[in-house]
Amino acid sequence: MTEVPWWRSGVVYQIYPRSFADDGGGDGAALAGGVGVGTLEGVRRRLDHLVWLGVDALWLSPFYRSPMADFGYDVSDHCDVDPVFGTLDDFDRLLAEAHDKGLRVLIDWVANHTSDHHPWFVDSRSSRDSPRRRWYHWRNPAPDGGPPNNWRAAFARDQPAWTLDPTTGQYYLHLFLPEQPDVDWSQRPAVEAMHDVLRFWLDRGVDGFRADAIHAIGKDPDLADDPPARAGTPRSSTNDHPSTHDHLRELRRLVDSYPGQRVMVGEVYLLDTAKVAPYYGDRDELHLAFNFPPLYTPWDAAAWRARLEEVERHLTAVGAWPTWVLGNHDNPRPRTRYGSPARARAAAFLLLGQQGTPFLYAGDELGLEDAVVPPGQAVDPGGRDGCRAPLPWDASPGHGWQTRPWLPWPPGAAARNVEVQRREPASILHLYRRLLATRRASPALSLGTSSVLDAPDGVLAWARATPDDRRVVAVNFTDGPRELDVGPGWTVEVSSDGDGEGRPWTGRLAADQALVLHP
Ligand code: GLC
Repeated sequence: MTEVPWWRSGVVYQIYPRSFADDGGGDGAALAGGVGVGTLEGVRRRLDHLVWLGVDALWLSPFYRSPMADFGYDVSDHCDVDPVFGTLDDFDRLLAEAHDKGLRVLIDWVANHTSDHHPWFVDSRSSRDSPRRRWYHWRNPAPDGGPPNNWRAAFARDQPAWTLDPTTGQYYLHLFLPEQPDVDWSQRPAVEAMHDVLRFWLDRGVDGFRADAIHAIGKDPDLADDPPARAGTPRSSTNDHPSTHDHLRELRRLVDSYPGQRVMVGEVYLLDTAKVAPYYGDRDELHLAFNFPPLYTPWDAAAWRARLEEVERHLTAVGAWPTWVLGNHDNPRPRTRYGSPARARAAAFLLLGQQGTPFLYAGDELGLEDAVVPPGQAVDPGGRDGCRAPLPWDASPGHGWQTRPWLPWPPGAAARNVEVQRREPASILHLYRRLLATRRASPALSLGTSSVLDAPDGVLAWARATPDDRRVVAVNFTDGPRELDVGPGWTVEVSSDGDGEGRPWTGRLAADQALVLHP
C-alpha cells in the first residue's frame, strides 16, 4: 500500500507574518504610532504554540522583498526576505527549527504577477524593445485611447485591469492593483524564471507552496472582452483559461521531482466547486486546491449540506482530495461572520470534521473577531485590515509584542489571547486543541469517507468512516435544542461547549452545539 502523504491527513496553519509575532519581549509601546510588524524570528519563537495546538504544517503568507502595495503580494524579489521581516538566515533558522519540531513549512508563491518594482517589470516597461517586454502583457490603446479590453481589476470598484504607461504609450495588464502587473505565462523565459524561483526554495528545503491566484496565470491570447453579463466582475475571479492546465502539469512534475512529499496547494478563486475540480487534473496538476464556496456560505444547515454534497460530487467522487477554509487574510473571520462565540466554536467542527485538508487561519483558534479599524488607520486597498489584526499573545498592554503593531488589536484582547486561554480549559483554544488531537488519533476523521446523514431541519450531520473506524459529526445551526437520531451506542468525544464529553450521547443537541461522536 502506498504511504498516505502528510498533506492529506494533516492540518495546515496559516500565518500572516506581518501580524503573527514580532521579536517579542517589549511592552508594546516602544514605538508609538503603530509601526510594529511581525517577523520571521517572531514566528520561530512562537513555533511551540503550533506544536502545542497540534497542527502539522504552517503556511507563511509572503515575506519577500516588496514595496508592500498589497502587503507582500507585490513581490519585487522572490528570492530574498524583506528587511521588515528579517533575513534569509532568519528564514533558514525558522525552517530548520520547524522541521526539528515536526512541522512542515509551506510558503506563498505569487505567480500571476510581480511588483511594478520587480527588476523584470522595470526592464519590461523601459522600452518597447526591452528583452523582457514580452514577459508582461503590453497592448496598444483601443482606438478611443482607452484600455485594450473591458476587463476589471480586483479591489477598486469598477477600475480597468489596465494602466497606461506614458513612456512607451502602451497599457499593461494587472488583474489586481496597478502595482501588480501580470506576468505573461505564454512566454517561455518568464516561465523558466518562475520555475527557478520554485527551485530556489525547494533546494532550501521548503515542503511546498501555496500558489497565489494560480487560476489566473493562463490568459486568453486574444484578450477578448468579457461578455456583458460578466463585464463588471473582476477578471481575477473568472479567469479560467485552458493553458493554465498545461502550466500546472509542468509545475506538478517540477515539485514532484523533489523527494519528501512536497506539495502545491493552489488558490483557485473561482467561486464554484465544479470549476475548481479541473485544477487537480488527472491528479497531475495541483495536489490540492482551495474551494471557497463554503467560506461564503451563511450559517444555515441546508446551505452547508449543499456545500458538502457539491464537494462529494465534484471533488471526492473524481479522486480530488478536498480542502477546507473558513478563514484567511482576505476575509472577515468566522467569529465575525457567524456572529457569536458559540457559533465560532461550532465552526471548528465544520473545519476540522470534514474529509479533506483543513487550513486554519492563525487567530481563529482564539475565536478572534475582526478588529475595528478606524478609517484613518485603514491601510489595505482591498478593505481587509480587520482580519489582519495582530495576534495577542498575552494580557499585558503590549500583548507580547515589542512594538505597537501596525493595526489595532482585535476586540477583547485582554481575555482573547494565547496565554489566558491556555490557562482556561473551557476556552475555544482548548476546544481546537482537543479537536485536532481527536482528528489525528482517528483514521476515520483524518482520512475516512464522508456521507451526509438524515437530520432534522437546522442540523447538519455527517458520518466519517474507514473500514475499522467510525465517527459522526453533528452541528446544530439553530438557537434551540434539536433531536438527532444516529442509532444507539454513541459516546460524545468532543463537544463544542464541553458538555457531555466522555458520556453516552443522549440524542439531543443543545442550541448552537456541535459534536464528534464515537461508537
Ligand atoms: C490572493 C491573495 C490576496 C492578494 C491577491 C493578489 O487573492 O490571497 O491577499 O491580494 O491574491 O496577490
